[in-house]
Amino acid sequence: MALWGGRFSQESSALFKLFNDSLPVDYRLIEQDIVGSIAWASAITQVGVLTTEECSQLQTALNELLEETADKPELIIASGAEDIHSFVEQSLIAKVGDLGKKLHTGRSRNDQVATDLKLWCKKEGLALLELLSKLRTALIELAEREIDAVMPGYTHLQRAQPVLFGHWCLAYVEMFERDISRLQDALKRADTCPLGTGALAGTAYPMDRVKLAQSLGFASPTLNSLDTVSDRDHVVEICSDASISMMHLSRMAEDLIFFNSGEAGFIELDDEVTSGSSLMPQKKNPDALELIRGKTGRVYGSLIGILTTMKALPLAYNKDMQEDKEGLFDVMDSWAICLEMAALVLNGLQVNRERTLSAAQQGYANSTELADYLVAKGMPFREAHHVVGEAVVVAIAKQTPLENLPLEELQSFSAIIEADVYDCLTIESCLAKREALGGTSLPQVKAALAGKQAS
Ligand code: ARG
Repeated sequence: MALWGGRFSQESSALFKLFNDSLPVDYRLIEQDIVGSIAWASAITQVGVLTTEECSQLQTALNELLEETADKPELIIASGAEDIHSFVEQSLIAKVGDLGKKLHTGRSRNDQVATDLKLWCKKEGLALLELLSKLRTALIELAEREIDAVMPGYTHLQRAQPVLFGHWCLAYVEMFERDISRLQDALKRADTCPLGTGALAGTAYPMDRVKLAQSLGFASPTLNSLDTVSDRDHVVEICSDASISMMHLSRMAEDLIFFNSGEAGFIELDDEVTSGSSLMPQKKNPDALELIRGKTGRVYGSLIGILTTMKALPLAYNKDMQEDKEGLFDVMDSWAICLEMAALVLNGLQVNRERTLSAAQQGYANSTELADYLVAKGMPFREAHHVVGEAVVVAIAKQTPLENLPLEELQSFSAIIEADVYDCLTIESCLAKREALGGTSLPQVKAALAGKQAS
């Protein structure tokens, strides 16, 4: 039975019910709805709506319901209730009779659903923080294992300058640390309790909302009833934080897909996270990484979805807002599984050091070093850049790296070049020079890694 039959003389059409019901989605709020209801029972007891005896009877029944429905979504959905709030109320009435009808005094589904969803965001947000932190650890461990493997760093997907594999890992650690801080920040703002703001104007019962908020583990109550029941900023913020994090995951996946390609051959992915082709027996496809990249699209879609749903909604609650949950749930599910999968991929990843080193040695990745050498000998950088460009053209024509050009040939580009030039053209020298903070020299990367291990 619907919660609102009195005013109506006709049943809803089957199509309307199918269209309007949110239970197939919001059954996931069962725990939060019950926990919120338990707190609400106490709050209305304090203002004299229920006796202590009635309150404890209701709370016992609610706790029973929590146990009975734990991990049983089919049971909840099969009830055919309109939404999770209706389900809890009708189950309560089935247990305790008319007393169950008193629980909704002073409360609206508007402040109730806002509370449920914030409680859910807080709980799931913590789980996501945990997964982000596990992925961060996986990257740190990979950095430890492969810290000094030399590989080409790219700009425009062209080999640019050599970098250490550990440096690549720590680049993503920076990104996931920002994701952690963004989510923590969003959760701080979500930590205000809507319960006790009623449908839109505030509850008519003079309860202590500070105490109510505390009893539900919120830092404080919300401060404006109109804003409270129409606010879904937390959903937007979490979807936004997830989108940024998925962008990072997708970029990492893309790097690794490229590293894993036959052309690069820089890494070997574990059999556990790859699949074969039904036709081509030789193939080992990076499906896990491609799916991470692919799922990024649906997360962005949900962010745009909720932003668009909320746009131009008048204050206060509108049914449009029921559309907030499906996207959010999908965002959290997708983000969580991608974080877990990414960690699994990294745990089994092997670097093919010979391939990465030989690629770093090709592609004229030491051209900047030659320019810096000329600068050290007194030539202005712009001129040195030009001279090296000419040398590279000749080396490309001869299909040889710069360091294989004989001294006389190098001197034909600039007379200030001497035999010591070859020292600065080695990979070791290229890397060792990047010793300023944040650079890819081994001591810098080791120091960065030590900083991450300590925090
Ligand atoms: N199922 C609804 C939702 O998720 C609950 C709130 C209903 N409020 C109302 N005024 N009809 O938004």
